[in-house]
Amino acid sequence: MLLQIPVGPMKNFSYLVGDGTSGSAALIDPGYDVARVLSEAERKGLTVDYVICTHSHSDHCSGLKEVRRSTRARVIAHASAPIYKDIPVVDGSKLSVGNLEALIIHTPGHTKDSICILMGNALFTGDTLFVGECGRTDITGGDPSAMYDSLFQKILNLDDKIEVYPGHDYGAMPHSTIGFERENNYTLKPRSREEFLDFMSEP
Ligand SMILES: [Fe+2]
Repeated sequence: MLLQIPVGPMKNFSYLVGDGTSGSAALIDPGYDVARVLSEAERKGLTVDYVICTHSHSDHCSGLKEVRRSTRARVIAHASAPIYKDIPVVDGSKLSVGNLEALIIHTPGHTKDSICILMGNALFTGDTLFVGECGRTDITGGDPSAMYDSLFQKILNLDDKIEVYPGHDYGAMPHSTIGFERENNYTLKPRSREEFLDFMSEP
């Protein structure tokens, strides 16, 4: 079961991903409206066992305290993230959410601690990749060269059928696929590293 929930004033998405059999679920990016997201989980019979932050920007994790107060969820974030975490993860880390397996893909570029989470056929991309866009790399912790590797060596190595669930609703539609982004996302056009760095430095 996958719920994409629009939250807050900046077009953020929180996600609930649950195993329908056991009811075990992960909440991804608790930025805003935590009470509403948790009541949605309850309504669907899901127990939030994990809360995962795709990166340490506050619009993706400022609700952590509230989640920890209201649930027994364990907090997962990249090992380098300067936020509370119970389970620090790195590239290739795996965890089980009921019968679902989550694979962590470290995708620095927007921030050093950015991760994408692959669960079944769904990839949660945080602020690394949006529908039709990629995350900005010109703010603290941003690194366009690292973003190049994350996008071109990791994300684009994934199967075209995998669905992309971004951290913000910035595109023409709320979610997409790797294949659609490969074809249509102007930031993913084939470029050398130098060309990509030039491209990302343009206003
Ligand atoms: Fe961000």
